[in-house]
Amino acid sequence: MKISQNTIKRLKSTYEEWVLITGATSGIGKELAIKFGEAGFKLIITGRREQELENLSTYLFDLFKTETIPVKGDLSKTEHIHSLLEEIDHLNVGIAILNAGYGTSGRFAHSDLVRETNMLDLNCKSVLVMSHYFANKMKQQPKRGALVLLSSMVGFQGVPNAANYAATKAYVQSLGEALAHELKADGIDVLTAAPGPVNSGFAQRANMKMDMTLSTEDVAIPIINAIGKKSRILPGFLTKFLVYNLRMTPRWAKVLIMGKVMGGFTKHQLN
Ligand SMILES: NC(=O)c1ccc[n+]([C@@H]2O[C@H](COP(=O)([O-])OP(=O)(O)OC[C@H]3O[C@@H](n4cnc5c(N)ncnc54)[C@H](OP(=O)(O)O)[C@@H]3O)[C@@H](O)[C@H]2O)c1
Repeated sequence: MKISQNTIKRLKSTYEEWVLITGATSGIGKELAIKFGEAGFKLIITGRREQELENLSTYLFDLFKTETIPVKGDLSKTEHIHSLLEEIDHLNVGIAILNAGYGTSGRFAHSDLVRETNMLDLNCKSVLVMSHYFANKMKQQPKRGALVLLSSMVGFQGVPNAANYAATKAYVQSLGEALAHELKADGIDVLTAAPGPVNSGFAQRANMKMDMTLSTEDVAIPIINAIGKKSRILPGFLTKFLVYNLRMTPRWAKVLIMGKVMGGFTKHQLN
């Protein structure tokens, strides 16, 4: 499915011409890069895997003549975030999609603390540093700016067996909701996208076996359509069910429900 011509026209007339997508080497980020490339935007794409970045740049150029700047870097490292921001500082980024992230799962007490703190640095600290940069940069640009933050259905309550991952996404969700209000007057639209399970590289990295997964397109298209129109989207049945149908359910009960869901995603770890 393509982005509609109306949406392309709206986004191009509202925002500056460059789109930044962090974590574009696979999954949701890669899908977003393809959709924006097809729609004629200029792209800055990031990831740690240089070859994947090169392959995507070549693919986008061959198919759509997309102008792409690939930037290799590990965004859990502050110095890599700063070198990315220095490299693109001369460009007017209209839409910044802070998508790079990963999850962990299993019993918290048995987890690898280095991997857990690294996840906190990537999922939260990099989003904080980059949001702060764009909150200041975009307000000086002639056109509006948009920030898109990737939250998750796990970000609305505690989640046993993915305690730290869910906490990182609660941070992202909360930050995005507040910034959507605060930055509007500065000409910056903020969108949080909180998908349910998605078929991407995520599950393997997180050691989860997820069912009822969405395709990356099921997430990318609603994100693009919602930029500048909404401040939150919940792609997928599961996340809508949790947020809307269970809105009167006490938080402790939601923790139990999500514990059951995550228990299903991680039961292979007990074998
Ligand atoms: N899949 C789901 O079920 C789901 C549901 C809700 C929310 N989300 C969120 O959606 C976002 C995208 O996930 P996805 O499903 O597309 O997963 P994915 O296919 O694993 O993609 C993750 C992307 O993040 C990049 N990345 C990982 N670690 C990085 C690091 N240290 N520095 C820089 N880039 C890094 C990866 O690139 P390199 O490996 O090349 O670095 C990759 O491009 C994440 O924030 C995730 O939490 C996913």
